[in-house]
Amino acid sequence: MNVKGESYKTIWLNEANPKEVKIINQLKLPFSFEINTLRSCEDACLAISEMQVRGAGLIGATAGFGMYLATLECSNNNFEDELENFARKLISTRPTASNLFWAVNKQKNAISKASTPEEKRMTAKEEAIRIADEDAAFCKKIGEHGFQLIADISNSKNGKTVNILTHCNAGWLAFVDHGSATSPIYAAHDAGVDVHVWVDETRPRNQGASLTCWELAQHGVKHTLVVDNLGGHLMQHGMVDMVLVGTDRTTRTGDVANKIGTYLKALAANDNDVPFYVALPSSTFDFEVSNGLSEIPIEERSEDEVLFPSGLSQKRQEFETLQISPTKTRAKNWGFDVTPAKLISGLICERGICEANEKSILSLFPEKA
Ligand code: MRU
Repeated sequence: MNVKGESYKTIWLNEANPKEVKIINQLKLPFSFEINTLRSCEDACLAISEMQVRGAGLIGATAGFGMYLATLECSNNNFEDELENFARKLISTRPTASNLFWAVNKQKNAISKASTPEEKRMTAKEEAIRIADEDAAFCKKIGEHGFQLIADISNSKNGKTVNILTHCNAGWLAFVDHGSATSPIYAAHDAGVDVHVWVDETRPRNQGASLTCWELAQHGVKHTLVVDNLGGHLMQHGMVDMVLVGTDRTTRTGDVANKIGTYLKALAANDNDVPFYVALPSSTFDFEVSNGLSEIPIEERSEDEVLFPSGLSQKRQEFETLQISPTKTRAKNWGFDVTPAKLISGLICERGICEANEKSILSLFPEKA
């Protein structure tokens, strides 16, 4: 996607030095656009755990490149054991998004088929690029399938503005390109459909406010930032035509783990007959899991994210954190919740749109039956 008119992906191999991987440092957005360099598997682990990169697809792509960087660090005489240690470190960086272990396992599988350490390094490089390219291509496809849903709403409203509510950032910053939830929105906007996005700020880290608003603005999509609790009110007053969110892990039965607060949006959508769609590439399915509530590990993050929100001070134009509660107040900070399949109107995948139930999901992915 474009940043100030220039086309970027969120992660790429440095052509000038293929032992380096470049990322956009999302901790600096929306205030500055900074590119960072990953030179080791440890750099990749840090980028994921500190959330310089975040979002299911991008976490997966970074893990793919992290495994490639790991192969450059493994010694020729103990390659397998050392690689296994690096793989374990990568997998332990964040618990919820399935793309992380999906990408690490994909790499382990590909690397194991090559024979010499040098061949393994070459294979890992090719596989990392393939994982990233596939993520971008699948997100583009999601846009093509989801576009029709938005176009249909637009037609039913005689071309009046289609209002879409989204939560967190399932945009191109959360993937390698295009995004999952935003891809149909970009496709509709590019096709001339009048579309407007309600962006939940997404406390405590404010990915909606800082990332989704930024990338929609770069693409010229109309949007309005709203506090997380406004969605229900908007839906009760007919101001939302569709809720469209991403997911960090989706079970084979269609339960969806996504950024904390998604479940409440799904309840409100259900109560107000607003369609609630979830967009995801197949790498975000965890086909091993059937019950989202009991089986998906939910990340618990530092209470400081809740107690001390951060942003740019208006007066000094410096990055600052603020205290918003009494000094001794404690907080809890679970990062994700699970929306049960029964509240979901459909899943938009690279192969098409299916219902959020096992039969329908497996009809799109019969090889997982
Ligand atoms: O904690 P994050 O920022 O990595 O969370 C991921 C998300 O942005 C959301 O949950 C998103 O909606 C799904 S990831 C494509």
